Amino acid sequence: MSPFRLTRTLPEDATAAALRADVLHGLTCSPKTLPPKWFYDAHGSELFDKITELPEYYPTRAEREILAARATEIAAASGARTLVELGSGSSEKTRLLLDALPGLHTYVPVDVSESALAQAGHALIAECPGLNVHALVADFTAPLLLPRTPGPRLVAFLGGTIGNLLPAERVAFLASLRVLMAPNDVLLLGIDLVKDESVLVAAYDDAAGVTAEFNKNVLTVVNRELGADFDLAVFEHVALWDAEHEWIEMRLRSRTEQTVKIPALDLAVDFTAGEDLRTEISAKFRQAGVRAELEAAGFDLTQWFTSPGQLYGLALATPVRPPTARFPAEDRITTCVR
Ligand code: AVJ
Repeated sequence: MSPFRLTRTLPEDATAAALRADVLHGLTCSPKTLPPKWFYDAHGSELFDKITELPEYYPTRAEREILAARATEIAAASGARTLVELGSGSSEKTRLLLDALPGLHTYVPVDVSESALAQAGHALIAECPGLNVHALVADFTAPLLLPRTPGPRLVAFLGGTIGNLLPAERVAFLASLRVLMAPNDVLLLGIDLVKDESVLVAAYDDAAGVTAEFNKNVLTVVNRELGADFDLAVFEHVALWDAEHEWIEMRLRSRTEQTVKIPALDLAVDFTAGEDLRTEISAKFRQAGVRAELEAAGFDLTQWFTSPGQLYGLALATPVRPPTARFPAEDRITTCVR
């Protein structure tokens, strides 16, 4: 049997239907929003890879630094025979964990991008003899079913992507992981930390303009998939720090009053001059907040590693009790705030 398997848990047309629903909902409510997952078509994923190499964008480097220093400890704490990685993308940092887990039986990368999964999966089995790869094409923000593989499992959610969820969504998401996990499984979370506002804003508004292009790419996706006529030049990239919620918001600000047509939805969307469309929140954390959210989801925070300068953290957590939070969350990121 081939050590590479790929399971599609998403119907062929699920992505298209979800995009339509998100755009219809997000652009007809006030304030206007679009969920960040639509940044990541092939071009958007390339732009994100470029972002990770920008001097201003520290999270990727800081996380890699912690993993490089602590992979052995993390591996020993988990004793994992299965590594599950949510939002695995190119599985680049995963190598550090894989190399530290000699007893590993199966790697389960989970991503919405089948092409990224196939590419990364085939590369890994070529480089790691004896390793099985069971890739899951799945949207991990929806309830997930994991393949039956030997335990214990290490479930990794890296990159700080948990910060793209609203607080209630985060706890609901963690609770949904909690119910998938056995008592001896462990959760590894990558967490971007609160720091100086100027450092945070620069990371989301880089001098070379790559993040601006990444932000506007969501409009290109809607133009291509739904026949919309967004003119990218009439939107300005905005990154701001919301000190109350402790999150970065990325927005696209309409430079003028304009009407955008979205034929596939039979929709015309009016923008006033200066009106914002929110495309992403990226929450930043403190250890106490991470601990509290994990606890609400039924986990204990067992180990906490930070990068030099406290830029970034990795949390190891174990499932200890049933979650007290409800799932699914009602305040989806696409919900209007009225
Ligand atoms: C990959 C979701 C963690 O929120 O920092 C990078 C995405 N957005 N620059 C983040 C992103 C703008 C990134 N995550």
